[in-house]
Amino acid sequence: MNSGGEASAIQVRGILLEKFYISGGKPLTGKVSIGGAKNAAVAILPAALLADGPCTIHNLPYIDDVICLADILKEIGAKVNLNKRGEAYVESSTVTQYKASYDMVKQMRASYYLLGVLLGKFGKAEIPLPGGCEIGARPIDQHIKGFEALGANVVIEHGVVKASAKKLIGNEVYLDVVSVGATINIMFAAVKAEGSTTIVNAAKEPHVVDVANFLNSMGANVKGAGTDTIRIKGVDRLNGCEYTIIPDQIEAGTFMVAAAATAGDVVVADVIPKHMESITAKLLEMGIEVIEGDDYIRVRGIQKPRRVNIKTLPYPGFPTDLQQPISVICSIAKGTSIIHESLFDHRFRHVEELRRMGANIKVEDRTAIFEGVDGLSGAPVTATDLRAGAALIIAGLVANGVTEIDNIHFIDRGYERIEEKLTALGADIRRVKDGDKPLKVLLGSSNSAR
Ligand code: EPZ
Repeated sequence: MNSGGEASAIQVRGILLEKFYISGGKPLTGKVSIGGAKNAAVAILPAALLADGPCTIHNLPYIDDVICLADILKEIGAKVNLNKRGEAYVESSTVTQYKASYDMVKQMRASYYLLGVLLGKFGKAEIPLPGGCEIGARPIDQHIKGFEALGANVVIEHGVVKASAKKLIGNEVYLDVVSVGATINIMFAAVKAEGSTTIVNAAKEPHVVDVANFLNSMGANVKGAGTDTIRIKGVDRLNGCEYTIIPDQIEAGTFMVAAAATAGDVVVADVIPKHMESITAKLLEMGIEVIEGDDYIRVRGIQKPRRVNIKTLPYPGFPTDLQQPISVICSIAKGTSIIHESLFDHRFRHVEELRRMGANIKVEDRTAIFEGVDGLSGAPVTATDLRAGAALIIAGLVANGVTEIDNIHFIDRGYERIEEKLTALGADIRRVKDGDKPLKVLLGSSNSAR
């Protein structure tokens, strides 16, 4: 329960155990507008607490991770008004707590940003180790390395990270691993530190740049975001501001892949095409037509894409978050495709589910080998994490027959109204609350869902 005592949208939804039913085989056609970037939003929302005045943030995706984070900020005393149009008003003057409860924090990984924000604001923070998608080991040693470099004392006791510093003093931090979370969290701790901080081997993702731009809108002095070296000059005070979040690179990429996989013709609108360059390049390599406009990308699929090799890398390489969705195209492409997952050691849990739909995939450690099959067939499957869920939706759209997807709360963490956006593109997808009888029209085919 959040501070108001009422169950948040997430808690209510989770109790309902909803499923998606998809009747596949229809190409997606039309235009879809992309929402605000989840991985920028879950950092910028807590960062607003660093300001001494109120912040108004636009274009937040209205997704469970953002709703949950708003609840956590309320729990520690902030005033947060978040509406379904993706606008939030955040007032931090009432924040007194530097601790957050495990109940709230365990629901999402991005809760670790409260460490850098509260350490930067109060000089102390006590946050339980984060939850989040089970895609492999997700240590925070680089975050801690950065906080300690700035003079903080950090211990982990009974699963709680306790950071404190009499005064944060700028320093050079060399990241052993390119980490989005650590890069952003160290920025949070450094913006009001005494002196200058340099983050070397920093992550360059679009959302890292967006967070730096937000901090500068509040009066911070952050330079070099988007390169592997970020320089931060500490300032005494950060002011409230108004800010609009960039479009979501991963949601855009997901719809590009869905258009290609269903041999459809879709305009993915309200995007920054440069952010999707690596996905565009891979789709072109597969023989798929991709046309870039100023703020849109048009994807026209073909019946049998060509095979491809993919290696996930930090930006501007191919994003790990699209490895699972694009594996559906690899499953039906001509020939043998290979995907190597460089960032996470357990991000192939969707493979077992795709096999249930007829895919021919072999996994060896961090490499998946796909023998392209003629087509997929609908089946009951289970989402194991956010982007695995997105992959199963795309597989359901491609498959012949009906696919039932369980555990769709994972998908609601990162995609806003996905079934509405897909329906508008011609998909036959329905959200069904557990226990409701699926609609007749969906179960016309032989393989009736579980
Ligand atoms: C962010 O996770 C994203 N989440 C992930 O998106 C995304 O997959 C990932 O970046 C990579 O782009 C959010 O932004 C909320 P990392 P994060 O720190 O910050 C290792 C999604 O689907 N590492 O860049 O946790 C780590 O194990 C989610 O939207 C350390 O070793 O990722 C991994 O191998 C899933 N020590 C690599 O670095 C650390 O202290 C990259 O992780 C931190 C990370």
